[in-house]
Amino acid sequence: MIPVMILCLFVARVKSSEFSVDTVVAVSVGVLDTHFSCCVFLMCHTHHQGLREDWQIAALSSSFSKSRVMSVLLSGEVFLSSKREFCSRPLNVIRSSDHTIRRYLQQVMVQCPLCLFDKAVSASDNFRRARWLMFMDSSTSVEEFFAGIHIPFGSEFLVAQWSAQRVQLSLTELYRVHYASPLQTFCIGNWTYNGGLSWSSVPFFTRRKDLKGIAIKAAVIPYNPYLTVAKYRDKKPVKYAGYLTELWNEMERRMNFTTVYVAPRDAVFGFRLDNGSWSGAVGMVVRKEVDVGISFFAYMVDRMDAVGFLPPIWNVKLMVHIKQPGMEVSSLSHILSPFVSTLWGAVLSTIIVLTVILSTTWYMNPEYKVDAGHTPYNLYESWLNVFGAFCQQGHDETPRTGASRLVYITTYLIALLLFVAYSASFMSFLAVRRRDMPFADFNGLLQDGTYKLGVLSGSARVEFFKKSNVSTLKEVYRKLIHPGAGNLPSSDVEGLQRICTREKYSYVVSDTTLRGLGRSAPCSIIGVPQAYYSITASMIISKTCPYKRIFSHHVQEIKRTGILTRIEGTAWPPKYTEILDDPPSSVTLETVTIFFIVLLIGVVTSVFVLVVEFGLHKLRQSFQWVTF
Ligand SMILES: *[C@@H]1O[C@H](CO)[C@@H](O)[C@H](O)[C@H]1NC(C)=O
Ligand SMILES: *[C@@H]1O[C@H](CO)[C@@H](O)[C@H](O)[C@H]1NC(C)=O
Ligand SMILES: *[C@@H]1O[C@H](CO)[C@@H](O)[C@H](O)[C@H]1NC(C)=O
Ligand SMILES: *[C@@H]1O[C@H](CO)[C@@H](O)[C@H](O)[C@H]1NC(C)=O
Repeated sequence: MIPVMILCLFVARVKSSEFSVDTVVAVSVGVLDTHFSCCVFLMCHTHHQGLREDWQIAALSSSFSKSRVMSVLLSGEVFLSSKREFCSRPLNVIRSSDHTIRRYLQQVMVQCPLCLFDKAVSASDNFRRARWLMFMDSSTSVEEFFAGIHIPFGSEFLVAQWSAQRVQLSLTELYRVHYASPLQTFCIGNWTYNGGLSWSSVPFFTRRKDLKGIAIKAAVIPYNPYLTVAKYRDKKPVKYAGYLTELWNEMERRMNFTTVYVAPRDAVFGFRLDNGSWSGAVGMVVRKEVDVGISFFAYMVDRMDAVGFLPPIWNVKLMVHIKQPGMEVSSLSHILSPFVSTLWGAVLSTIIVLTVILSTTWYMNPEYKVDAGHTPYNLYESWLNVFGAFCQQGHDETPRTGASRLVYITTYLIALLLFVAYSASFMSFLAVRRRDMPFADFNGLLQDGTYKLGVLSGSARVEFFKKSNVSTLKEVYRKLIHPGAGNLPSSDVEGLQRICTREKYSYVVSDTTLRGLGRSAPCSIIGVPQAYYSITASMIISKTCPYKRIFSHHVQEIKRTGILTRIEGTAWPPKYTEILDDPPSSVTLETVTIFFIVLLIGVVTSVFVLVVEFGLHKLRQSFQWVTF
């Protein structure tokens, strides 16, 4: 059931219409079905009601209910003044075309200016969202009737008129690009008694794709490297370049409009001031000084209340970045780290068990036990043999008994397997670069306390920390950002430079921006992996802008068809791949120092032991010499 609201307007008596009740109902229901609307408002008369109008209303509503459409009677004053939403997109049906209707339309269409050139905001959203269907006498000319009536670009206004022989009713769509431009018409469908409604297959956005070269005012916030100023005249930017400019040019080309660029005085993205007004580019859009804001504006709840956003074009992680700390120095833990401690334990016990077994097999064969000239495999000798095998050492002698030989083979096989596993794991361990990061996340940053945190001034990043509900982030704002709030970097380039020039400075920036600007920074900069948050950003547009829908549509199209990716490929400064790939990591001397230290200790110790043994030997000899 579709509810029909019969909206009674204060309209004077009209001459009898050339449309029968059945025709009006059939066409309205047809349009209703095509538009998936949920209700119909019928324009009728409240005052000077005669029997005739009463009868017609009754006939109409009974006719609608026969088509399973429910009707409700509602007065025009209630509808206009009500803030309630009766239904999402009602269909307003106007049954005749005389001068009272004309006057009424003039009034209503000015009351709901879907047009930013008029600064007044619509009194009633109910009218703004409505679709219109008007039945017009064939003797009236559409152009003449609508002269001076503004049909906003975003609205859908249909006029039904009989053709010359009264065999078919043609439905024409009307709109103006803006209030001073000529009326645009498009034949959208035909209706006949027998055939019903035949609807044009041309979609809405194709019918409205040409903005006829109108000038759109845009506030621009240069945002290196995505949007840069290419040319100044009288110290004022007149030409822009970069990724966002290419995207905007593509939109201009598709929709046929031109742009007047305006630079906001305070040159910030914009946030809500304490007194409720907005600063920066957002403020200009809110105050309707401009239609759109070009740059990357992060989606934020309070911004979305104030302005409209185009579909997302930029999804990034904003990460805390710091000056690259030195490489981790190698330590003893490097030698042990390829295996976990339990595995080391297992290796050790294997050595012990194999030693014991080797000795046991030797003791159990008495005939080889005392064999002059051969190595005895007692415990004291065996552990060196087994340990040697685990160090990949061979032996000049093998045991003679089969049992002992089997233990030998087992030992070598296990040792080989462990060695291969250790080497593989150790190599991959060396290949990964490790740095001594002073902290790993926001909590660490807070606890460390020595680093200052910078964010782009006047951007959503300040607001993110300020308005966050997470206590850590609130603290980060209170302790690290707020003290320097008066002196925040005004661009990402400046922020990156501060990282390099100041002691212990961290800065929140996206990795794509860093890729674009990293080369201009005088030092190496690295992100703190866990200290980040994600944002979605796009361009902003006035909430009441009639072109909002078509702009959104074209951004979607540009994304869907891969043009955005192409623009990214050509305009992303500098070339993506160059910076994206880190240079292959190489193993430096520092990383493997520990092995040389172990070697050195071994050599020194053995030399020392040799000298001691030598000395003892000499001492014993001289002692013997003294004795005898
Ligand atoms: C409606 O009829 C006219 C004339 O007969 C024709 O030119 C037009 O293409 C028709 N429109 C649709 C949407 O069928
Ligand atoms: C763009 O609009 C202008 C002004 O109305 C018009 O002359 C021109 O033909 C249009 N261009 C395209 C490609 O439609
Ligand atoms: C809010 O404050 C700003 C500066 O603090 C001022 O420029 C602006 O006019 C104020 N707005 C209102 C509505 O008071
Ligand atoms: C954050 O806190 C405010 C006020 O305490 C509350 O209105 C809001 O819903 C909270 N937001 C989230 C995401 O929890």
